[in-house]
Amino acid sequence: MENNKRPDSMTRITTPQQAQQFIAEQVDAIRAQVGSKKVLLALSGGVDSSVVAALLIKAIGRQLVCVHVNHGLMRKGESEQVLEVFRNQLDANLVYVDATDRFLDKLAGVKEPEQKRKIIGSEFIRVFEEEARKLEGIEFLAQGTIYPDILESGPVKAHHNVGGLPEDLRFALVEPVKFLFKDEVRVVGIELGLPESMVYRQPFPGPGLGVRCLGAITRDRLGALREADAILREEFEAAGLTRKVWQFFTVIPDFRSTGVKEGRRVDDWPVIIRAVNTVDAMTATVPELDWAVLQKITQRILAEVPGVCRVLYDLSPKPVATIEWE
Ligand code: XMP
Repeated sequence: MENNKRPDSMTRITTPQQAQQFIAEQVDAIRAQVGSKKVLLALSGGVDSSVVAALLIKAIGRQLVCVHVNHGLMRKGESEQVLEVFRNQLDANLVYVDATDRFLDKLAGVKEPEQKRKIIGSEFIRVFEEEARKLEGIEFLAQGTIYPDILESGPVKAHHNVGGLPEDLRFALVEPVKFLFKDEVRVVGIELGLPESMVYRQPFPGPGLGVRCLGAITRDRLGALREADAILREEFEAAGLTRKVWQFFTVIPDFRSTGVKEGRRVDDWPVIIRAVNTVDAMTATVPELDWAVLQKITQRILAEVPGVCRVLYDLSPKPVATIEWE
């Protein structure tokens, strides 16, 4: 049985020097574990999988095969950033799968939130499994498990929502950051040269925009949601709020509302802005945002996003409301 307890002797990684030492140790450990064999990694572009990818690339280069599955529910520019950083800058051996149509077809007409989560989770495993079967000579599976995942739920990442790969694809695991806390993973990521926007990325649920496009997902509402979310992120960055607010995003409900555009009555969608501060996501407060910032975001969304005629700011703390809308 693998040891899943952080060694008492391990000091907390807070400085660049400590991160460099950790990286050097892990590079040696990975080379010793893997030898000349190939390792597979599902690279979502989240902090943990990105840091594991960068660490493995440093240790074994193109023996690491990264698979990035775009489920069509990513935020604007996210898959592009994964390709730019890993394929172009780090010369990763990266398989990119655009599975947008497959996911959206499976999700068509599905309203129930847990059902949506299940479909996204199991479809993700299926696509990853198909890609894994095309590859030859894989003997290891790398995972971005971090210490809170182990403390919370045993060996599988807490938020994967689904079981794992089938028996014949259960490779030996490589989990180089499994004893690190999130803040330590970030220090290591910066030392590995990953961009700050990746390393300090706010939490983004595995099912992505799928749980923010409420009810049955449609391509037009999903497109509007993605554009509105991109505007929100741009304006938060411009206002210096990106590192001050813990999580912020937009939500699009599955009902319409009346508006007036160019003198004509329209039936368009509302967009809801959600922003929260929290330590552990168990409780959360809503920051008092500058009115001018909210107005600017509202004006831009109304002017730039087709199909939207109303913008709301959600004032509800957790509890009673959850952070996500469904
Ligand atoms: P709630 O909505 O439960 O969210 O207050 C707490 C935190 O968890 C994230 N979240 C998810 N993350 N898969 C994930 O990986 C999910 O299905 C999921 N649902 C919520 C949410 O974004 C927040 O940070």
